[in-house]
Amino acid sequence: MTREILIAPSILAADFARLGEEIAAIDAAGADWIHCDVMDGHFVPNISYGADVIKAIRPLTKKVFDVHLMIAPADPYLEAFAKAGADVITVHAEAGVHLDRSLQAIRALGKQAGVSLCPATPESVIEYVLDRIDLVLVMTVNPGFGGQSFLESQLEKIRRIRAMIGDRPIRLEVDGGITRDNAAAVAAAGADTLVAGSAVFRGNGSADYAGNIAAIRIAAEAGRVRKLPDSSTQPMRAGESARLR
Ligand code: DX5
Ligand code: ZN
Repeated sequence: MTREILIAPSILAADFARLGEEIAAIDAAGADWIHCDVMDGHFVPNISYGADVIKAIRPLTKKVFDVHLMIAPADPYLEAFAKAGADVITVHAEAGVHLDRSLQAIRALGKQAGVSLCPATPESVIEYVLDRIDLVLVMTVNPGFGGQSFLESQLEKIRRIRAMIGDRPIRLEVDGGITRDNAAAVAAAGADTLVAGSAVFRGNGSADYAGNIAAIRIAAEAGRVRKLPDSSTQPMRAGESARLR
């Protein structure tokens, strides 16, 4: 199943002193989803913001709120994020022992359920929860900070997860170090939803953000029409994307 490419700016890279204006700017700039990175200083070595901030910004846009929980445990907080206005709630496979239970709890709250994998986590962890999820999030950096470099090792994992998903209605999202230069490679590998923080919030306001979002989208769409390479012989490298523009 080929799904439309979606671009999800991560507001971690926004100017927090003007967060409301920044949300309005990416909304006007053509963001498809709003990606919210929640960090607890325990599961990841950084603290960001929580459900109250998400609740405060929820009325500012009608776009889907894609909430990425980098917290452990996650289960005690799922209801708060659902009530705050999350549409998609993603938990990390590494954040607790009972992933199946967490995913059931998210769907029981009426929300779409996602599972995220850190770079060192193999794709096999999602094999038995594929029918409980709406999204798989492949971390293409070690979670915790914006502005890190894309890990090319994750392209093979993206390809394998794309094959595992088959015809299921599951989005395959990538997050971390995504730019206009590697968007083609991740889309060619099978990603259909691209998170980008620093590559979107570059420049000044809506017009610049619109250009940044469009560049990532165009590169991803170009990568997707390119024939998927045979993963066993010649994986497309991130640098190759430059030739597609
Ligand atoms: C990393 C977060 C990402 C991050 C992306 O832990 O999950 O969403 O904000 O930022 P960039 O695009 O700057 O790598
Ligand atoms: Zn994220």
